[in-house]
Amino acid sequence: MTAQQQPAQQQPAQQQPAQQQPLSVGIHDIAIATGHHVLELDDLAERLGVDPAKYHVGIGQDAFSVPAPDEDIVTMGAAAAKEVIDRHGVEGIRTVLFATESGVDQSKAAGVYVHGLLGLPQNVRVVELKQACYGGTAAVQLALGIIARAPHERVLVIAADVARYDVDTAAEPTQGAGAAAILVSADPDLVEIEPAAGVFTADVDDFWRPNDRSTALVDGRLSVSAYVDAFVGAWDDLAAQGGPAYEDIVRFVHHQPFTKMALKAHRKLTQHVGVPFDESELATGFTYNRQTGNTYTASLWIGLAALLDLDDDLGGERIALFSYGSGSVGELVTGIVRPDYRDHRRQGRVGALLAARVPLSVDAYRELHASGAATSVDVERPRVTAAPYRFVGVRGGARHYEATGQD
Ligand code: CAA
Repeated sequence: MTAQQQPAQQQPAQQQPAQQQPLSVGIHDIAIATGHHVLELDDLAERLGVDPAKYHVGIGQDAFSVPAPDEDIVTMGAAAAKEVIDRHGVEGIRTVLFATESGVDQSKAAGVYVHGLLGLPQNVRVVELKQACYGGTAAVQLALGIIARAPHERVLVIAADVARYDVDTAAEPTQGAGAAAILVSADPDLVEIEPAAGVFTADVDDFWRPNDRSTALVDGRLSVSAYVDAFVGAWDDLAAQGGPAYEDIVRFVHHQPFTKMALKAHRKLTQHVGVPFDESELATGFTYNRQTGNTYTASLWIGLAALLDLDDDLGGERIALFSYGSGSVGELVTGIVRPDYRDHRRQGRVGALLAARVPLSVDAYRELHASGAATSVDVERPRVTAAPYRFVGVRGGARHYEATGQD
């Protein structure tokens, strides 16, 4: 009898490997912040002699947030993260991932400023991620992997951006500002993310921002077709990875540079899959983004916050989340909304934030736009924001921030 033919040793029952339950990981909480000001697109339309319906219907946007002179991605990201920390504390947080397209420093991660402002523990790793608007989703994927290895930990993901294009360009009405703070954990309160993901990368010059520019360059038409290609490509890859059938997904949330982009892409997907297209199915997820404008890395997550806040019938249902970052990378993931998600959402909070924004005239917005670039020149910023943190200015070439004492 060879060694291979030896009968297997009977293991005592208590030594049998226990049946492992798959770990449930996902979105435990989401909080949103945005800029202090708002520009109504009706006012921009009037200034530019454009029919306002082009903005409201043609691109599907109503307004966009504009940061005050003492706000930026750090202050918005910290404001959103504060809500998460105030509710859940810092226990188990050993990683902070900050995703942005509009970084304020070429070297230091914006999350390190947030770490200081929030008084997070020192035994935390902090890093910044970049791939246009996709970075927030990359951060969530990394967070899910960290939790899979260390289920007792929680990861704070912050996605924050100020979307800036040159004035008097076709892209001007599609600017915006905002942040999402996402707590990723095991046994999440809101959405369990499923393991299969569809991913897609193509080298495309649809949107980019060279190092000497504070405003993005964009080929708007190309960005629409690149987004559609990435969405359909990610769908096909998700299917190849064993993802769910279209009929088993009750809602889709998309990255929304402008909400019409998501509608165009979704129409293409329904044609590709061979199912009817019902544009009303996407409307709830557009509610906040129509008001904030493009928030790049935060856009998808602000869309998810709107869906969870405003749709009461998602308990136990599967939703899909599509992220797109120009250049380009797309990723499609699915998740199961927790049966009691309504007990944990922040209903009414984002509506109140949006309603509290202070309107700007077109002249005042353009003046702020002209001074919006990150700089190493020493400057003091006026006190304007009503948010919990403010950008004090640049001293000795370094950026300084402080708590305002406001909630
Ligand atoms: N009533 C109703 N609809 C009207 C209208 C009116 N009076 N007038 C025009 N429209 C419609 C047009 O028919 C058109 O609709 P379709 O696209 O369905 O045909 C729509 O309004 C827009 O009109 P135009 O195409 O003439 O508009 P435009 O040339 O001025 O520019 C745009 C539109 C290309 C979207 C431009 O705003 C733009 O370039 N925006 C930026 C694009 C963008 O954000 N790309 C980035 C993608 S991803 C991202 O977020 C970046 C990242 O990764 C960081």
